[in-house]
This record gives sequence, structure tokens and C-alpha cells, in this order.
Amino acid sequence: MTETRLAMPDEQGYFGEYGGQIIPPPLIAIMNEIDAAYKEVIQTEAFQKELQELYTDYVGRPSPIYFARRLTEHAGGARIFLKREDLNHTGAHKINHCIGEALLAKHMGKTKVLAETGAGQHGVALATACALLGIECEIHMGEIDIEKEHPNVTKMKILGCKLVAVSRGTKTLKDAVDSAFEEYLKDPVNYFYAIGSVVGPHPFPKIVRDFQSIVGREAREQFLAKENKLPDVLMACVGGGSNAMGLFTAFIDDESVKMIGVEPAGKGLDTDQHAATLTLGTKGAIHGFECYNLQDKEGNPLPVYSIASGLDYPGVGPQHCYLKDIKRVEYEAIDDKECLDAFMQLSRLEGIIPALESAHAIAHAMKIAKDMSPDKTILVNLSGRGDKDADFVADYLSL
Ligand SMILES: Cc1ncc(COP(=O)(O)O)c(C=O)c1O
Repeated sequence: MTETRLAMPDEQGYFGEYGGQIIPPPLIAIMNEIDAAYKEVIQTEAFQKELQELYTDYVGRPSPIYFARRLTEHAGGARIFLKREDLNHTGAHKINHCIGEALLAKHMGKTKVLAETGAGQHGVALATACALLGIECEIHMGEIDIEKEHPNVTKMKILGCKLVAVSRGTKTLKDAVDSAFEEYLKDPVNYFYAIGSVVGPHPFPKIVRDFQSIVGREAREQFLAKENKLPDVLMACVGGGSNAMGLFTAFIDDESVKMIGVEPAGKGLDTDQHAATLTLGTKGAIHGFECYNLQDKEGNPLPVYSIASGLDYPGVGPQHCYLKDIKRVEYEAIDDKECLDAFMQLSRLEGIIPALESAHAIAHAMKIAKDMSPDKTILVNLSGRGDKDADFVADYLSL
């Protein structure tokens, strides 16, 4: 794992002023047990061997880096490369941390693994890892997302997990987290809450980031082998921030490499229908940790929106907040229309149907490529494939 100043947290789980454990003391004790178990097991040869074998033989790693020639010609300017996390088993980067979390839960003797899901990618990946390792699995998902992401809902059912439909609040990701967390609190000693991004109380932002960092470590080596230099710009969409941290971590000390996280501007930053947490949020606490938040004056999370279910979360990973403050990473926002345009462009120019989440990063790459010279390169994390979104987009655009 990368050991750099920017890859902290400190012992209390803080990245600068963000992160921590804003939870009751009994839960702090349980989180610290998880941290201790993680620190111990991650160093053992047996755990690393099992994890690496599953990444290679089961997930299909390493995922390739692909030069998107026609997309580059269309955008004009810098050459655009894609890290193909969409080719992983289950279709997204989420499987990288789900396998790790499920292995850790099993090692700790937990009886049930539970989690929230937005787009259903984390849910499918976790249900898959639990089927593989023979662990009971329960996934909470908002009713609106269930409707929109039905292919993933069907998959979760086939994989044998219990799916809990969440009908409260906005019926999307934030409410799914609340619901899953309530279930977790019924028996935190025996249950394991496998958080779906680099969010939640310490140690989860660190654990999920570490498991995802395989993406950047591979990408660094592959890009150097292909191009004999590092990329000029890295690009990744940011919901909670796991695929972005996965790509960024291995490059964090390479000052020549610019990093851009792309948030959802939804129907516009001047409306109340977006989820651009780092762009417009203020500091606060949500789901057990401190971060930038889209919140009202009393500190309650505001309803958020994105066309991409996996991006509509009112908080964001604490390490992203820190990296924003110290200006190591820039954060930009892409709206629904730009996202849909990129979704169609990548599909029709390259024959690659991206997840709507990933299409945000593609859109921003196209936007900046045209102002960069052709000897510059942009590496985009194509975090997932668009099978789950295909029917929705076809209906939306009346195709
Ligand atoms: C394909 C894909 N990309 C990105 C995300 C956003 O999550 P994160 O910011 O943790 O990578 C999701 C979430 O569901 C997703 O399914």
C-alpha cells in the first residue's frame, strides 16, 4: 500500500479535518476492532495471496488501458486513454473492494454482511463476493433506484442476497445508507457493514481506498509501459469517491500529474437538483464522519439528485475533502445533458457503453482535451459499464 503523507489518515482516522468516527462509543470500539483486524490480516501472506488470486482469476485483473482513438479525434487535442474497470467481473470497480471487505468479514467470523447500494453496482459486487465466499448478504436500496436499475436488482436476487426496498425520504442512496445502518446496529458484533465507497466512519475510507488502489498501481505501470511517461491528467467521477481514490492514490506524489474529480451537476449548479458536494458543499458530519456536505442551515442533509444513481450522495469521502483543500486534486461538475452526450459519444465512437456515473468523467475529459495539445494525455477511469443504464437511457432519449 502507498505510504505517503497524502495517503494518511492519522490514528483517529482524520485526513486533515475530515473523517474520524462521529459515532457512539460502543460503535467506536467495534470500528477499532475492524481496523485492528484489517491491519493484522492485510500484512499476512495468506490474505494477500487469496486476494491477488481472486483479482486475477475471478475479477479478471489487470484491467487493460485502452487508447480511445476515435473519441480523441472527435474531441480534438489531448489523447484520451481509458482504464477499463468496466471489463471487471460484475461490470465495475466496486468488486475490488467488495472482495476485500468480504474476505475481511469472513476472517473476523462475521455472520452477515450488509450494505447500501445506489446504482446497484456495489450491491451486485457484494452479493457476488458473498456468494463466492458463502456468507449471508443483505442489501438496502431506494425504491427509485430499484425502478431505474432493474437489471442489477434481478442480478442481486439471483445471487441469493436479501434485497430490502427503502421507501423513506428521497428513496435513493442516502436513505438506503440510513436503512442499512439501522439494520447493522441491531447486531454490530456479528454483522459487518461493507460500506460501498471511501465514506463512513474510520477505518472504512482507508480500507476501501486501499482495496481500490490496485486500479492506480496497475494503471501507473501499464501507462509507463505503453507511453514511456506518466499521464498528464487523471480523470474520475466522484460519488463517494472510491474509483477516483483508487486511480489517484498511486500518482499522488507525482506532482506532474494533474488530477480531476468529476461531480454530478445534475440539472444545473444553480438549481437544487445536483449532487456537487465538493463544489458547493460546506463542512459537516454525515453517516459517522466529517466531510463536505450538501446540508441545510441545521446541518441536515439536503435532497440530492443526479441522473447517475451512484453519484447522488450528499456527502463525499474525507480524503477527497482534504485533497481539495490542499489543492492536490481539482473538482469539476458535469450536468445530465453533458453526461448523456458523453454516454452516446463513447458508445457510438468506440463501441463502449459506459455507466452513467463514468460518463461524467468521459464528458469532462472531452471538454478539456480540445484545449490541450495532441502530445498531452488524459487517463480516464472508466469505472463501470452501462448495461444497467441502457434501457433507462434509451427511454429517456426516445431511441
Ligand atoms: C460505475 C460506477 N462508477 C462510480 C460510482 C460512484 O462511486 P465512487 O465515487 O465510490 O466510485 C458508482 C456507484 O455506484 C458506479 O456504479
